Amino acid sequence: MSRSDADSWDLATSVGTTATMVAAARAVASREDNALIDDPFAAPLVRAVGIDIFTKMVDGDIDLAAVDTGDTAQALTDVMAVRTRFFDDFFLDAAKAGVRQAVILASGLDSRPYRLDWPAGTVVYEIDQPQVIEFKTATLAALGASPTAELRTVSVDLRDDWPATLRANGFDETKPTAWSAEGLLMYLPPDAQDRLFDNITALSPAGSRIATEYHPDAGAALADRSAAVSDRWRDMGLDLNLSDLFYKGERNPAIDYLANHGWEVNGRSRVEMFAHYGRAFPTGDLSKSLSNSLSVTAIRK
Ligand SMILES: C[S@@+](CC[C@H](N)C(=O)[O-])C[C@H]1O[C@@H](n2cnc3c(N)ncnc32)[C@H](O)[C@@H]1O
Repeated sequence: MSRSDADSWDLATSVGTTATMVAAARAVASREDNALIDDPFAAPLVRAVGIDIFTKMVDGDIDLAAVDTGDTAQALTDVMAVRTRFFDDFFLDAAKAGVRQAVILASGLDSRPYRLDWPAGTVVYEIDQPQVIEFKTATLAALGASPTAELRTVSVDLRDDWPATLRANGFDETKPTAWSAEGLLMYLPPDAQDRLFDNITALSPAGSRIATEYHPDAGAALADRSAAVSDRWRDMGLDLNLSDLFYKGERNPAIDYLANHGWEVNGRSRVEMFAHYGRAFPTGDLSKSLSNSLSVTAIRK
């Protein structure tokens, strides 16, 4: 199952499955001793989606070490803990600096609008495909969860004219905004990634911020590693080839692109991020493929 221009999905199919996968990792990471993150909504959301392997993962019903030497799932959990904390800290820092508008691009099962301590008056927009937005919003409402900011959901494909839909939902482009693009870029075609940053730049007055991450070797090397990781997941009952979901081909490095378009950029490798949070970098296929990832923050000049 490879990608096509107007493909769509829910949280149990195609790219949507990856949102459930990372939420499962957040659920496991949240219950570890000395946890780096606390996402109490991840486990119930994953259960509600109902993909057997991820439900078992959040319920502790899989002996991951016995199935795959622990590498795939443990590395994913460690990486997600650090990545989640990086984006949490990004939004909290932006809030401390006075930013009161946030846009979470490709929000998936991210529960930040329900769990971060947003200052009063903050408006948070979540953008994702319609079925993803509807499922998460309905499930969290059924769980009795309430947003901790004014939440506005925006159902639109990020390959389409999403700024128009964002504006139609009340987005104020005169206000500094904190943007996140977490776990998104490789699921966009290279030209759509550039357009994404062009649109964000056009909607961002000085003082706006963005956080993202990307893999400098997002081409063949990552695809190979992902295929290997997918084989492990297949052994555990999940029929999903991750590398089929990425758009391959040359793409502009996010750091350079943002730096050339009016942003003051800072990039740190995944290994540096682990050190920053006092965690040991995991070993194994997945971690090798992700070790070059760069965590990027930028401020609009
Ligand atoms: C790996 S998940 C990451 C979800 C979330 N950011 C997180 O870290 O938990 C990828 C997300 O990107 C969304 N996505 C990918 N391509 C998209 C597109 N063209 N339009 C809207 N959403 C998209 C998917 O629906 C999915 O929720």
